[in-house]
Amino acid sequence: MPLSIEKFMSKDLITHIRNLALVIAAASATFLLDIKLPLGVAGGVPYVILILTGMLFPWPRIFIFLGLCATFLTLIGFFLSPEYAALWIVITNRIYAIVAIWVTVFILSLKRKEKSLLEEITLRRELELKLYDAVKSTDKANKAKTAFFGSMSHDLRTPLNAIIGFSEAIDKKIFGTDKFDKYFEYASDIHKSSLYLLQLINDILDAAKLESGAHVLHLKNINVKEVVYSCHDLLNKIAKDKNIDLKISIADDILPLFADPLALQQIIVNLLSNSIKFTPNDGTIILSVKTAKNQHIIKIEDTGAGISEEALKTITKPFTREDNDHHKAQEGSGLGLSIVKSLVELHHGELEIQSVLDKGTTIIVTLPSKGF
Ligand SMILES: Nc1ncnc2c1ncn2[C@@H]1O[C@H](COP(=O)(O)OP(=O)(O)OP(=O)(O)O)[C@@H](O)[C@H]1O
Ligand SMILES: [Mg+2]
Repeated sequence: MPLSIEKFMSKDLITHIRNLALVIAAASATFLLDIKLPLGVAGGVPYVILILTGMLFPWPRIFIFLGLCATFLTLIGFFLSPEYAALWIVITNRIYAIVAIWVTVFILSLKRKEKSLLEEITLRRELELKLYDAVKSTDKANKAKTAFFGSMSHDLRTPLNAIIGFSEAIDKKIFGTDKFDKYFEYASDIHKSSLYLLQLINDILDAAKLESGAHVLHLKNINVKEVVYSCHDLLNKIAKDKNIDLKISIADDILPLFADPLALQQIIVNLLSNSIKFTPNDGTIILSVKTAKNQHIIKIEDTGAGISEEALKTITKPFTREDNDHHKAQEGSGLGLSIVKSLVELHHGELEIQSVLDKGTTIIVTLPSKGF
């Protein structure tokens, strides 16, 4: 392996050494020129060039240092000058040389100071802008968090209030001691609210885990058809109750998908249950899976209520729901889609939602077939 000098020294150090060699070469050349020319006229102009080499270095006092070197060389040059010139001419030229050297030092030092001041101002401005951005995003995150907790506590309180209200009614026997049907009905409502509450708490925990990055995927080769049919079996009864035609289209020999089976199930169940929930009686839902370009494409189309263009922009954010009577009539906290989106992104996939209000919705999930 060839030996490289860059292994032993930093790039900056190499550049400085190279520049220093240049300065020494410039100083030697001007000095030689100086003592070879008669009358000492060479002193001024060439030493100005020596001062200019200071621009190669970042140090603020380099010009003063080079000015001192140049003055020293000018004085030595005076004693080594050929003796055939008139002394007063040599002395005058040397004085001119020294004046030229120090005027150059003064101008270059001033310019460098101006430049570093300008750089400092720009740096400060950049820092201020960064600080402003940081404060703004913290403010935004705080507002989002407050909104999140506001919605969360509201959603938790609703089923809890129902449970408290119904159980209190039973406890106080408000219908007397013989109206068992009424109490059974209340018990069933308590059961429903408790299940809803449990589902909500599970969703909140899932969403929090996903947001904090603590959700760990367990990737393996999945038989997609099996997972899709298990989701179908789980939800088909609810679809049947609404007389919804739930069709599955998936090839028998579909390639396995390298992903987390539980996450895939959660994605499909969430999307499918949304379609069933927001599709009126007698509608149609088609769930299809195909592969293309090393990707699995899962598509869920429904003939349901759809989502408005405005709501589509934010619908995947936690606790976001379409704001119309049809949608509000359905139960839900608005966490499902945000969980789906996070799970898809965790797999390095994509979630696409196409929807037309009152016509239907198509959701396409694209996942890399061989993992990421
Ligand atoms: N297939 C769909 N058709 C029409 N609207 C939909 C569909 N899927 C989602 N939406 C709209 O998007 C909103 C957010 O969906 P999301 O799944 O996040 O919440 P949810 O179903 O209301 O509640 P959760 O899933 O937490 O029980 C829904 O409330 C609904 O307004
Ligand atoms: Mg949902």
